[in-house]
Amino acid sequence: MKYYSLPNDDRIPALGLGTWKSSPKQVAEAVKTAILAGYRHIDCAAIYGNEDEVGEGLREAAREVRREDIWLTSKLWNSAHKAEDVEPALKKTLSDLKVDYLDLYLIHWPVHLKPGVAFPRGPEEFISYGDIPIAETWSALEECVKNGLVKHLGVSNFSAKKIEELLRVASIKPVVNQVESHPYLPQNELLSFCRANNILLTAYSPLGSKDRPKPMKKESEPSLLDNPAVQAVAGENSISAAQVLISWAISRGTIVIPKSVNAKRIKENLAAAEFELSPADMEKLAALDKGYRYVDGSFWAAGGSPYTLKSLWDE
Ligand code: A2P
Repeated sequence: MKYYSLPNDDRIPALGLGTWKSSPKQVAEAVKTAILAGYRHIDCAAIYGNEDEVGEGLREAAREVRREDIWLTSKLWNSAHKAEDVEPALKKTLSDLKVDYLDLYLIHWPVHLKPGVAFPRGPEEFISYGDIPIAETWSALEECVKNGLVKHLGVSNFSAKKIEELLRVASIKPVVNQVESHPYLPQNELLSFCRANNILLTAYSPLGSKDRPKPMKKESEPSLLDNPAVQAVAGENSISAAQVLISWAISRGTIVIPKSVNAKRIKENLAAAEFELSPADMEKLAALDKGYRYVDGSFWAAGGSPYTLKSLWDE
């Protein structure tokens, strides 16, 4: 397994198991299978509604693999950005996961919701961006580092502009920005910006996230796994399309967190982390860039919300 070094010399495994959309019924077995197969990194979030069951899987795997050999990431939900809500949210995640610290805790979205709101039903359940200063949320997160509840901090779905604002006030610097990335959305500029600031980029939805709930999908979505260029590279290398996408992500220096609840595919995805694509194959995949987001954030910009897609992505 390839690892990336962080500024303090801790190491994060390049491949992690994604758990968004993994049903509570299936995720414990998936986590256990993944760890016993060789995964050392599990990506979680409170809003996925399955951390208790992820914790079951972790507990079962703990018989074979020590906690300190596993990298655990989770994410602070949008309704807990006020200083007083941060530590309780992290403690709930720790209790669900049945661990006493996280390796990495991310601000899930640069979107604030009123306390207690999971998904807003109307504009009154939003708080405008910046009405809770990033310095407030971040210093509460820094307290959690000082208290030993988490080792590293980061963000998710943040633009370069929003990271710059954060860097101006952060004493403990973010080490990861987790964003959607795959050959249709390589995020080249954001990746360069992150590199220049010692921030690793984690690629979510690396396989095109085809199991998203219907309301989050568009009718004519392009299928990454069926893309002819991806298929051709797969055929030439005798690997699967999913393995091409995972190998592509790691070859360009990003962390990647494919989700699966299927034992065969969990192992297939792990094997991809050992595969190296040729420069010519990497070039073929680079040509697929079309700035296409599967998770376009339009659910934050609907029905009178103070957020727009432009203000969300700063594009
Ligand atoms: P499953 O969980 O049944 O394996 P993403 O990581 O982009 O969100 O994509 C997750 C989707 O891709 C899920 O539907 C998952 O299904 C599927 N998937 C995961 N691994 C593979 C694979 N190796 N080949 C094909 N589909 C996969």
